Amino acid sequence: MKNGNTILLDIEKLNSEGAGIARYNNFVIFVKNSCPGDRLKCKITKVKKNYAEAEIEEIITPSAFRVSPMCKLQKICGGCTLQHIEYSKQLSLKQSMVEDTLHSILGEKLAVNKPISSGKDYGYRCKIQYPVRNKSNNGRLYAGYFKQGSHELINIKYCPIHPEICDKIIEFVKTEGEKKGISGYNEQSNSGILKHIVLRYSKFNNEILVILVINTEGSIPECVKLLLKNLYDNFNKITGAGVNFNNLKTNVILGEKTKILYGKNYIEEKLADFVFKIGADTFFQVNPECAELMFKYIKTYITDTFTNPRLLDAYAGIAAFGITLSPICKNVVSVEINKQSVENAQKTIKENDIKNVEVITSDSLKYIKQTNDTFDITILDPPRKGCGEELLKEVLRITKNKIIYVSCSPKSLATDLKYLLKSGCKVENIQPFDMFPNTFHVENVAVISTPSA
Ligand SMILES: C[S@@+](CC[C@H](N)C(=O)[O-])C[C@H]1O[C@@H](n2cnc3c(N)ncnc32)[C@H](O)[C@@H]1O
Repeated sequence: MKNGNTILLDIEKLNSEGAGIARYNNFVIFVKNSCPGDRLKCKITKVKKNYAEAEIEEIITPSAFRVSPMCKLQKICGGCTLQHIEYSKQLSLKQSMVEDTLHSILGEKLAVNKPISSGKDYGYRCKIQYPVRNKSNNGRLYAGYFKQGSHELINIKYCPIHPEICDKIIEFVKTEGEKKGISGYNEQSNSGILKHIVLRYSKFNNEILVILVINTEGSIPECVKLLLKNLYDNFNKITGAGVNFNNLKTNVILGEKTKILYGKNYIEEKLADFVFKIGADTFFQVNPECAELMFKYIKTYITDTFTNPRLLDAYAGIAAFGITLSPICKNVVSVEINKQSVENAQKTIKENDIKNVEVITSDSLKYIKQTNDTFDITILDPPRKGCGEELLKEVLRITKNKIIYVSCSPKSLATDLKYLLKSGCKVENIQPFDMFPNTFHVENVAVISTPSA
């Protein structure tokens, strides 16, 4: 098999990144933008030792699950790689994707429940982070997502995944920014002013926080100040507008310092009867409606299984788990490294007069290593890279009964489960939640019994 060869392929299922899997003489070939059930004429684009990649030249027989994508840019944008697949089929495909990832890393099959569907499959995304560039050298500002697997920016005017008002704000930034001579970021030379447009949207009261990430250490150009004022004056839903300083040449979007020039430095979001404050840099699930379902699921499980447990909420963010579960717990310790998130958690605790939640600013490993406390349940909700063995070993030392592992990466969940299973834990249940419809991403909740249970 060589690059450029044209072959007929039948797509069997999807890989963990949403590409179709086909076999040709038992050799695995990945095909982007395909759908299980498709028969395709494909051109080979890459040949590796264990697999090849191909692109679609012609759809000979379309899968019964194909639908017309809502977005014209779907085929090129790296965002919604599953938008051409019927939504209910996306759910069963994600179930298999999680099962296959666990199987390939653990070497054993674990049962995975069918994902719980998102409340909405469009208009759900409440956090938007668009990179900004200049189109060639004509001064036009472009903002959007990168093309699949590249850093080539697609200028997006309409994205059905987030609320419509966000498109209007982004278009305003582009057109008014151009008029004011604001330059887009140049990755190669680390020059230009505007790096990212970041929006946080509240489903609860429709408020919006706008953050322009600028390529300076601490100064704010007058043109940026003026643009923020225009934004704040023109959109009554914008309740906060400011800048984040990030002049480092990295893939990290937000720098450490944020300065709000107009309005408040947070929006509010409601989750399981509590109102939380979300700042520019505080983690919050991007799909609040689906998050509500996930939080209720965990609360119901704990209510049905425990009476007044002691709970450790590690990687706590704004202590969303700790606070929403506090009414059914004896006490809760929430541990989070980001100071702004901890401050916001403490405000919610004070406003709601909650007495049994302690929020600690710390690296989770550092806290768990030094504590002599024990907990009935530990919730682990780490970033994509997972927890790692050193932390899991300590978690097993202090957790008497269950670990509830919340993960947005099936791969790191599988890697951490491998260690936990080897250490004598048992996986009781794995429940995916479709927090990110039309993309290949999926959130998972694994309930794990510890050896001391
Ligand atoms: C996936 S988020 C989960 C947040 C929270 N559980 C929620 O559902 O809103 C992961 C959180 O872990 C925090 N974090 C990252 N590394 C950490 C560490 N080493 N120790 C403690 N917290 C950490 C991040 O700041 C982020 O708030």
